[in-house]
Amino acid sequence: MRRCESEHMNDKDHLIIFDTTLRDGEQSPGASMTREEKVRIAKALEKLRVDVIEAGFPIASPGDFAAVKAVAASVKDSTVCGLARALDGDIDRAGEALAGANSARIHTFIATSPIHMEKKLRMSPDEVVVQAVRAVQRARRYTDNVEFSPEDAGRSETDFLCRVLEAVIEAGAQTVNIPDTVGYNVPYQFGDLIRTLIERVPNSDKAVFSVHCHNDLGLATANSLAAVRNGARQVECTVNGLGERAGNASLEEVVMAVRTRQDHFDCDTRLDTTQIVPCSRLVSGITGFAVQPNKAVVGANAFAHEAGIHQDGVLKHRETYEIMRAQDVGWTDNRMVLGKHSGRNAFRSRLQDLGVTFASEEELNAAFSRFKDLADKKHEVFDEDLQTLVTEASLEATNERVKLISLRVCSETGETPKANLTLALDGEEKPGISIGGGPVDATFKAIETIVDSGAVLKLYSVNAITSGTDAQGEVTVRLEKGGRIVNGQGADTDIVIASAKAYINACNKILQPRERAHPQTGDV
Ligand code: KIV
Ligand code: ZN
Repeated sequence: MRRCESEHMNDKDHLIIFDTTLRDGEQSPGASMTREEKVRIAKALEKLRVDVIEAGFPIASPGDFAAVKAVAASVKDSTVCGLARALDGDIDRAGEALAGANSARIHTFIATSPIHMEKKLRMSPDEVVVQAVRAVQRARRYTDNVEFSPEDAGRSETDFLCRVLEAVIEAGAQTVNIPDTVGYNVPYQFGDLIRTLIERVPNSDKAVFSVHCHNDLGLATANSLAAVRNGARQVECTVNGLGERAGNASLEEVVMAVRTRQDHFDCDTRLDTTQIVPCSRLVSGITGFAVQPNKAVVGANAFAHEAGIHQDGVLKHRETYEIMRAQDVGWTDNRMVLGKHSGRNAFRSRLQDLGVTFASEEELNAAFSRFKDLADKKHEVFDEDLQTLVTEASLEATNERVKLISLRVCSETGETPKANLTLALDGEEKPGISIGGGPVDATFKAIETIVDSGAVLKLYSVNAITSGTDAQGEVTVRLEKGGRIVNGQGADTDIVIASAKAYINACNKILQPRERAHPQTGDV
């Protein structure tokens, strides 16, 4: 089987980028993605040239299994990885899901910190070593490309880590990944840990050392970079820093730090960094996790200069205040790509450039007719609009119990806003009516008269997708019910309609049964 990790650099120079947006990123409450969405993100990651895409946790649910399988079938230039606890059933399921991959990796893990072994696993250290070794051996039945992680390594005893790592490398793990699972480490200490492990594990030269840092103290990027300085040659990260709790090390920060400060790193990635911003937008559009404006590299303000003195400096000489070029990470001006006179071929080919392909002519026709509707309302249609349009189409394609048929909202000075709508619930059309504090509030209440979701609204946010007053508004709604959080998205040139779509999208998710296991707790 072919490997995709280090084709153009020698191993020492090459920093492997292992993206876990589709697995650890998806563990962010509310960030769950459909199979189609995962495939779209995977294709964008492949275009970005990440080395390894962790596509999911196949044992978690039939949906996760199908998503890993679909990603494995559609990605050719990145290795596709599946996560598995150190259990036979998990490993076999991962092996099965990855069978169609051009290049496959199984990532198996078991916790090694005293607190996890004693309180969670209720296993002795000796038992953990035996299970880790067995897991690696079993994974090797499916592929040579096996990665092992001692979960909570950041709080594990160094001597024990050395023992486990030596044993799993001996058993055939080609990558050993050191997770700071709870984001507890600080850079100088984490860097020392990596150096110590590489020095002390007798067969460390037989494996690539990797790191996986969480951001609970805001140190995930700094810890990852400290590890790279001390010999790590794989970094696990996510687009926009998405991930469990405070997230994972953010791909764009790690990659651009290494690329920009080549004077401090004796390695580099193979990434096409111009794909960073498009990827960031895609992930935020699909998950509904907006990127904060001042986020490094991909935030809307990352290259904006407000202070006059800065603007003056940049105009005179860009490098006075800019350490990277906006174009190098994929920032472009909104470019008018299509309009109402554009034909089907232009539409198809622009979407192909954006990494979107259609499974059938019917799918293309449906998307094209949505595009025509949008172009009627909006003079210029930008790449961002096209991406949203496809996201919306895929949201609608998923098993939706609730659909918006029509909406009429009256909002007038001095009057109480009132929403009057028709929804289809399980195929049956039902009317709903409500007043509210504002047009959006009235709309949400009218939806609830029909759906009766029992959920609590936790977040409502609106963003303009492009500039101009005819821009589409993109709305994110977060609902919570019984501890479960879901995000819904909707876009339209009318923000009340966008809000209704987003709320209905969230309701559709909350109405679906929860069926996934969590990799680290095993809870279903
Ligand atoms: O944070 C963690 O420890 C993980 C492991 C499964 C690698 O995500
Ligand atoms: Zn993690």
